[in-house]
Formats: sequence, structure tokens, C-alpha cells
Amino acid sequence: MTIELKWGILGAGNISCQFVHDLCLNNERKDGAVRHIITSIGTSSSQKGSEFIEKCDINSKNNEGVIPAVQSYEDLFKNNDVKVVYIGTPHPMHKSQVEHALNSGKHVLCEKPFTVNKKDAEYLVNLARSKKLFLMEAVWTRFFPAIEFLKKLLFETRKLGTIHRLFADFSYDAELAKLPPTSRLRDINLAGGTLLDIGIYSLTYGRILLDNKLGEESSKFQVKSFLTLDPTDKVDYNSSVIMKYANGSQGILTASNYTDGPSPFARLECSNGYAELFAQNPACPEKVKVVFKDGSEPIVYENNTGYNGFIYEANAVAHDISAGRTENAIMPLAETLLVMSTMDGVRQENGFVYPHDY
Ligand SMILES: NC(=O)c1ccc[n+]([C@@H]2O[C@H](COP(=O)([O-])OP(=O)(O)OC[C@H]3O[C@@H](n4cnc5c(N)ncnc54)[C@H](OP(=O)(O)O)[C@@H]3O)[C@@H](O)[C@H]2O)c1
Repeated sequence: MTIELKWGILGAGNISCQFVHDLCLNNERKDGAVRHIITSIGTSSSQKGSEFIEKCDINSKNNEGVIPAVQSYEDLFKNNDVKVVYIGTPHPMHKSQVEHALNSGKHVLCEKPFTVNKKDAEYLVNLARSKKLFLMEAVWTRFFPAIEFLKKLLFETRKLGTIHRLFADFSYDAELAKLPPTSRLRDINLAGGTLLDIGIYSLTYGRILLDNKLGEESSKFQVKSFLTLDPTDKVDYNSSVIMKYANGSQGILTASNYTDGPSPFARLECSNGYAELFAQNPACPEKVKVVFKDGSEPIVYENNTGYNGFIYEANAVAHDISAGRTENAIMPLAETLLVMSTMDGVRQENGFVYPHDY
């Protein structure tokens, strides 16, 4: 049976374009059971919306015969042809936009970080639950086939044995001096800085690869951290977090906007060998190499599909909504709350407060 899901895209920006690319490619290839129909682009400027449709190549052929409406945010929320809203705007806007979408009866997939702090996340989780609407933070990394492959090896076949240690880094030289101070990477009023933007992925690897449980069920861990706050922008551009689980395993989870990171971007050390993860963008793991201590043939897993990688989470959302589920089992809301509270703790340990915290 084919599942159809009608999307409204909020924010005609960078990540929204990469997201819709995958929806359209999926339709064009007639891959799998889901057809994603983009019915509305919600934007601050109709010109920007029209340019978005052209630049991101949404056309009637790859969008099930539909050219999306270009609308104000307000009109998108009122649009009966929108079943689920994808929110691709800067972090501090997520809270009021998710709230507005839920209050308009829409399901929501919201970009990471879900909110600026746990307090706001909790508010939205309670609202979605009270409205019985689907809500998920778009932690696309969790849905990649390479992650599925590695998790099976770690937690099902247990071929790598006991997990001891993970190094995971998400760093890139953002050339901050060339960006205007109003850039969402730099501006404290847009919750700029490294931890919430990319450090969240390093933490996510600490959650994915060192623990097979989620949210309230997760294995207990402690965190110690350092953030380097930029003297001009007053936001963090170096973030180092050590996560120690009750079983003794440790994650050394780092991020930086000052410098490019290493390749492999992650290395997981276990009693029977190690795994290395490779990607141009550590949010989307493309290749995993597993090396065994006993000299047996290494395993290399690679997945080159032409998708940016958003299709995996988008399909999961479509299956959930079509089945009447209000949360996703791979990225449940309790896991969002756990990661948000971990990031709150890191900021607290380093005296880093956003205006949105008050
Ligand atoms: N999953 C991932 O790997 C990934 C990658 C990058 C970003 N993200 C997340 O996606 C979100 C958006 O990031 P992005 O890089 O796409 O940002 P962006 O291109 O700077 O902005 C996205 C859109 O948000 C609206 N917007 C931007 N700045 C605004 C401001 N100051 N006030 C009001 N609206 C503003 C604009 O939409 P309109 O003008 O059209 O209304 C803009 O096109 C962030 O939360 C980020 O963490 C996720």
C-alpha cells in the first residue's frame, strides 16, 4: 500500500532545501512505499519562496503533480493541505513555531536542536501529547543505514565485544570572521555557537554507540565538559564533553567551529577490535570500517544512494503518522529531553547562558 504524506516546509533556507531534495528524489525514483507531497512553503518573503521552489527543483514531476503554494507562516499553519510541518528555521524560533503548528492541528518534524533548553522542549512535548499529535526532533543521523548496521554489530551480534571508548568529533572551520555577527552561527540571540549546532551530533554518537537504550530507559551516565566562549561573540566555538556510563565506557565528544575535524570523524574501541566512521559531514555517516583484533577480514559498510540522507527520517515519520503513532521509536521525545538536559548541564558547568533561558 502506498502512503501519502503532505508536507508544509517552514523556512526557505539551507537545510529545508536539502530536506526537500530527498522527498522529491524519492518520488521521482518511486522508491519504497511512501510518496511525500510538498504542498506549501512557508516563508518570510514570497520571492524567496518562489526562488526556493526553483533552486531546490520541486516540480510537478517529482512532487506528485503538485506545485507547492508559497505562503506566510501564518497561512501555512491554516492550510488544510498540510498534514505535517517540517521546521527548518534557526533554533530559538522552534519553540513558538512548533507550538503554533501543534495548536493548528499539524504533526511536526522539527530540526535539531529541538529547542534552546530542556524547559522549552518539555513544554512542547507536553503540548504534543495533550493534542495527540506526532512530534519528533529531526535527528536524521539515527536513521542512517550505516548506523543500523553498526548498532546490529554492537548490540545484537556483539561481534565487537565490550564497548570501551568512543572518540567522536564534529568540527569544521566556519570562517567565522567572514560571517556577519547576525549569522545564526555567531549571534547569541539566535542561540549561536557550537554545542547546540554541531556538538549535539557528537553527543548523539555518545548516545547511539555507547548505549542501546533511549530516553528514560537509557543507561546512566555522567558528564564533564569544557566550552571555550569566544570573547567577541560570547558563544562557544570549542566544545569538549566526556560522557562516562555506569559500566565504565567513555565517550570523548568534541566539536569546533574554529577548525576542520579529523577523518575518520569517529572511532569506537571495543574488546574485539574497533570501528571507524567516515563522512564529509559527520551528521550523515556514509562509511563504517570495522577491524577485528583476531585478524579476521575487516568489514566495510558503504551506502551511496544519491540521497542527502533525510529520506530515512522522512519515511519513518510517514510510517508513524500513517499508523497513528505520535512518537517515533528510534528518536522518541524522551531521548530529545535527555539530550537537551545534557546540553543544559554542559552549558551550566561552563557558565554559558542564552537570553532564551530566562
Ligand atoms: N539536520 C542537519 O544536519 C542540519 C544542518 C543545518 C542546519 N540544521 C538546523 O536547521 C535549522 C536551520 O538552519 P539553516 O542552516 O537552514 O539556517 P538558515 O538557512 O540560516 O535559515 C533557515 C530559514 O529560517 C528563516 N530565518 C533565518 N534567519 C532568521 C532570522 N534571523 N529571523 C527569522 N527567520 C529566520 C529563513 O526563512 P524564510 O526567510 O524563508 O522565512 C531562513 O531561510 C537550525 O536549527 C539548524 O540547527 C540542521
